Amino acid sequence: MRHCLIFMCAVIASPIGAQERLPVPEPLPVPELAAGVCAPCHTVDGIGKDVEIPNLAGQHVIYLYNQLKAFHVGARKHAEMKIIARDLTDREMRELAAYYASLPTH
Ligand code: HEC
Repeated sequence: MRHCLIFMCAVIASPIGAQERLPVPEPLPVPELAAGVCAPCHTVDGIGKDVEIPNLAGQHVIYLYNQLKAFHVGARKHAEMKIIARDLTDREMRELAAYYASLPTH
């Protein structure tokens, strides 16, 4: 029994075992707002539809959140993004930032 416990500890603590359990990052489910409001410009893949629309996919979550917040309060100026971000709640901005950050950059 004692040997058994030592063996189990060794397996659990081994670096190979730890690597096997590393989760593969998966994109988060598409939030309703991203599909309904952001997609016409940024697409649900987070790749901007034309050269003036930035890619959001794979950007850092804090960066995305800070930009949304800046549009929201008017600190970063852009006519369309201001209208879009004006009515977003803090929770929605966090959710959208987390979603786009989780997407592959392609
Ligand atoms: C009408 C088109 C349009 C829609 C709809 C739109 N965006 Fe944007 N978005 C833009 C443009 C254009 C920019 C670039 C602004 C600039 O040049 O400063 C931008 C910039 C951003 C940025 C900053 C990216 C960076 O790299 O700095 C974020 C974050 C963002 N949008 C998120 C969103 C989210 C989330 C939604 C939906 C709630 C949304 N946008 C809806 C056109 C749009």
